[in-house]
Amino acid sequence: MHDFEARAAELLDAGLFDYFAGGAGDEMTLRDNVASWQRLALAPRVLAGVAERDSSVTVLGRRRAHPFFVAPMAYQRGAHVEAEIGSARAAAATGSTYVLSSQTTTDPAEVAAAMGDADRWLQLYVFSDRAVTHDLVQAARDGGYEALLITVDFPVGGRRERDERSGYVVEHPTYVQLSRGPTTPAERHAMHDPSLTWDDVAAIGEASGLPVVLKGILRPDDAERAVDAGAAGIVVSNHGGRQLDTVLSGMDALGPVVDAVAGRVDVLVDGGIRRGWDAAKALALGADAVLVGRPVLWGLACEGEPGARAVLQQLVGELDNTLALLGCPRAADLDTSFVTRRS
Ligand code: FNR
Ligand code: LAC
Repeated sequence: MHDFEARAAELLDAGLFDYFAGGAGDEMTLRDNVASWQRLALAPRVLAGVAERDSSVTVLGRRRAHPFFVAPMAYQRGAHVEAEIGSARAAAATGSTYVLSSQTTTDPAEVAAAMGDADRWLQLYVFSDRAVTHDLVQAARDGGYEALLITVDFPVGGRRERDERSGYVVEHPTYVQLSRGPTTPAERHAMHDPSLTWDDVAAIGEASGLPVVLKGILRPDDAERAVDAGAAGIVVSNHGGRQLDTVLSGMDALGPVVDAVAGRVDVLVDGGIRRGWDAAKALALGADAVLVGRPVLWGLACEGEPGARAVLQQLVGELDNTLALLGCPRAADLDTSFVTRRS
């Protein structure tokens, strides 16, 4: 997987690569996302009888072959001509649930058509121009998207210093028509509605008629409010270290959120998941599933759909291997006894 990232760095224009790879400020959180999983050590059980293994999980009441979701990521046409169709087909081919970004460069109806009946969710940003948001909700319903993933950690954009330095502009047209012609990421981020509150999110969710999952929660008290607001799930996430630098990692935030929601809604986590054993650690801490971002983007950038597929297959294979070597043949049975913090 690191090979794909290094190759993508060579293939892509430097400004675009930095937009994809980068984080906010000094990128402390970006680095900590990966380091946080490495701070956990695994504690394997032996002689557990692991000939039959089962990586499946249940999220929003639906059984999924394994816990890997493809995280929503903007502007994928910049990575490869196959764009969102490439990553979506890779998800479908590997039994991964696909999350299409609001900032997609492919029409959600085309992505849906390319996926057949494979699992897909649509990520929603609430823009100041609510007509744009409503159009996305309609597209989700029309395209058979199972759930709306509303991202709540983006009232304004983070300070992306790499983008400020490179002057990168988004050149490919996006499905949502927020502007005419090329814009910088910061200009596009300024179109998000900073006045958004819990009441708005609850109302949008209710009007959509779709299950709502809130992405970008890091505090147990916010997790409680998400349950009260009618969410069916939560993604514990710091947006891949791209918003506020020095915030805590998803790994560090996960346990307290899991305790707060106490099984009332599903809990997913993302940020820095790079290996199958990272996903096992997330499940051991109480997550129901995980989202994977940049690794899929690097696979897509290098080889289109087959590259993204190879990344997902590797993760699925590593998780199966982890379940065997950890002495926990069913992913659903992972618990905190299998992890310990390194001292
Ligand atoms: C993102 N992310 C994101 N999240 C979201 O809700 N809507 C979006 O449009 C985007 N766009 C986006 C673009 C790029 C280039 C990246 C890298 C990330 C955040 C993403 O869904 C996820 O939270 C993190 O990327 C997960 O961390 P890793 O796996 O990339 O470390
Ligand atoms: C980003 C947005 C688009 O992180 O989610 O760049």
